[in-house]
Amino acid sequence: MSTGGVTIRLARLDDLGRMAEIELDAHDVWAAACGFAGEPSVMPREALEKALGEDLLLVAADEVDRAVGFLAAMEREGRLHIGEMSVETAWQKKGIGRRLMEAVLEEGRKRGLPAATLTTDRLITFNAPFYASLGFRELASSELPPDLQETLAAEVEAGLDPERRIAMVAPLTPLTRS
Ligand SMILES: CC(C)(COP(=O)(O)OP(=O)(O)OC[C@H]1O[C@@H](n2cnc3c(N)ncnc32)[C@H](O)[C@@H]1OP(=O)(O)O)[C@@H](O)C(=O)NCCC(=O)NCCS
Repeated sequence: MSTGGVTIRLARLDDLGRMAEIELDAHDVWAAACGFAGEPSVMPREALEKALGEDLLLVAADEVDRAVGFLAAMEREGRLHIGEMSVETAWQKKGIGRRLMEAVLEEGRKRGLPAATLTTDRLITFNAPFYASLGFRELASSELPPDLQETLAAEVEAGLDPERRIAMVAPLTPLTRS
């Protein structure tokens, strides 16, 4: 898949060095949008390597094949769980985030996983409202599986606003065979 000079592809080991740079750059946009003043954190190298090993680390690469955005997912409790997505500031609002998300949801369908989940900010335009436009809905607290309860609790522990953190789910409709 390639449009607008950006290609969505599986990450390679030599992309991993770019991930923290992209995440830190994107963090400033996110922090400004929700007023978070804490220290930025990045995905640990081991978590990136795990996603890479499971073929669930996707990158958006520019015309010279340099990663400008990434999405890290995992298979968790029989679901596809999206752990992180970041696009470098200069490349945001060009549809790259949507393409990364559509690509990983497609992969989840191919794997026969029934649903995709994530946790995010309820209010930021490019968080929950964006994911809702991709078919995600908020999970009520009574619906939360234990692993998502733990993820949300860890985020609050890290200083995020409990009133704004939510978990979302999207059904992954099986592909029809022609
Ligand atoms: C979330 C993120 C990965 C989306 O990447 P992107 O390439 O900008 O995504 P898209 O261009 O597909 O835009 C997605 C939607 O968000 C909107 N959007 C993106 N950036 C925005 C901004 N700064 N302000 C307002 N809206 C914005 C787009 O208009 C688009 O809305 P639409 O689908 O209704 O047109 C990127 O904004 C980012 O890295 N943000 C900081 C980190 C973050 O929030 N990560 C997700 C944590 S859950």
